[in-house]
Amino acid sequence: MPRKNTATQDKGAGRLRQPAEIQYREQLQALASVDDTDRPENWRLSPASVLTYILGGEKITTTVKGKKKTVEITRKFYGDRSIVERAIVTLASDRALLLVGEPGTGKSWLSEHLAAAISGDSTLTIQGTAGTTEEHLKYSWNVARVIAEGPTADNLIPAPTMIAMQQGRLLRFEESTRCVPDVQDALVSVLSDKAIAIPELPDANMVWAKPGFNIIATANSRDQGVNELSAALKRRFNYIHIPVVADAKTEVQIVKQRATELLQRYALPTKVPPPVIELITTVFREIREGKSKEGVSLKQPSTTLSTAEAIGVTIESALRASYFGGDTVAGEDIARNIVGSIVKEDLNDLAALKEYAKLIAQKRAANNKVWNSFYQGVQQVIRQ
Ligand SMILES: Nc1ncnc2c1ncn2[C@@H]1O[C@H](COP(=O)(O)OP(=O)(O)O)[C@@H](O)[C@H]1O
Ligand SMILES: [Mg+2]
Repeated sequence: MPRKNTATQDKGAGRLRQPAEIQYREQLQALASVDDTDRPENWRLSPASVLTYILGGEKITTTVKGKKKTVEITRKFYGDRSIVERAIVTLASDRALLLVGEPGTGKSWLSEHLAAAISGDSTLTIQGTAGTTEEHLKYSWNVARVIAEGPTADNLIPAPTMIAMQQGRLLRFEESTRCVPDVQDALVSVLSDKAIAIPELPDANMVWAKPGFNIIATANSRDQGVNELSAALKRRFNYIHIPVVADAKTEVQIVKQRATELLQRYALPTKVPPPVIELITTVFREIREGKSKEGVSLKQPSTTLSTAEAIGVTIESALRASYFGGDTVAGEDIARNIVGSIVKEDLNDLAALKEYAKLIAQKRAANNKVWNSFYQGVQQVIRQ
C-alpha cells in the first residue's frame, strides 16, 4: 500500500516542528520559479540553486498570484562552500554521500536541507540504531493480510528506502554506524544494484530505483568503532567531513540565528541580548578548545561542547528566565543550564567549569556586567 505522505500534504499547522520543505517552502518556490537551468533527472532544483538555498545570500523577485514579491534566501548551513558543492555533486553521481563529524556540527541539519531542496521531501528517513533491521530498511508485510491472502504487492509495506527508490528521491540515513553489520550489508545491495528484490512475490519481484534516488548518510566520528562501516560499504560512499565551526564570529551568528528561529515557537516576552549569546558561545568554545582567548590553558571535560549545545543552552536560559526570572536572560539562568550541559555523566567535569569560572570568568567579571552576572551565577550553582 503506498504510504500516505502527510508531511507534504498538509501545511504542517499545529506541529511542534515542521520539515524543512514546509518551513522554507516560500524560499524553495521562489528559487524554483527562476530556475531554468539543467538539472539531474527528478531533481526539484538545479545544483546551482540547491547551493544558493543552502548558503543563502540572494534576493529573488517572483510573481505570486499576480503580485510581485521579493523573497530573501537565508543562510541554512555555515561552512565551506566547497563542502556543500562536493555534497551536491556526490548526490548527482552514482555514489552515496556520508557526512561524518563530531556530534552537533550540523550534519543532520545539512542533510535535511539537501533532501528538501533536491527532492522536495526530507521525511524519507531511517534512524540508525542497534535495533534497526533489514525490514526497517527495505520492506515488511501486513501480516494479517498475508495470512488471509498470501503475499501480494498490496500487502507489502514499503520502508523509506523503497519509497525513495520508487519516487526517485533522496533517502536520509541517520547515524548509520549505529546499525549492526547485517543491516549495513543490506544497504550494499541497494547501492550497488539500485534495486530491491522481493523474493516472496510470485512475479514482478524487483523494485528498481528511479533516477534521482540516492542516499545521504550521517555518522558521528565519536561513535566510530561502534559498528564501523564495512569495506564494501565504504567504497560506495563519498566521505565528507563536517568540521566544528572554525571561527568564533560565525559560531555566534549560528547560535543567534537558530536560537531566534527556535524561540519564536514559544512566543516568550523574554529577550536574549546579543552579549549573552556571545558569552554562551565563548564559554563553550574556550572550554571545548581547552584554551582561552588570552591563551590560558583550561581543563577539558569529557562531553562534547558543540554549537548545538550552545543553541540548547541559549533556549533553555531564555525559557528559565521567562518562567522564573525577569524580562532578560541573566547570568544565573545561563550558569544553571551550562552546568547541565557540561556535567553530564562525569561529576569530575564540574571541575572544568569551576576552573573556568576562577581563571577566566572572574577576571572578565571585573569590568563587564554580563560576565559578572555569569560568574556570580556559577558561584551560586557550585555552592549548592
Ligand atoms: N555549521 C552549522 N551551520 C548551521 N547550523 C548549525 C551548524 N552547526 C550546528 N548547527 C545547528 O546545530 C543544531 C544541531 O545540529 P545537528 O544537525 O543535529 O548536528 P549533528 O547531526 O551533526 O549531530 C542544528 O539546529 C543546527 O542548526
Ligand atoms: Mg545528527
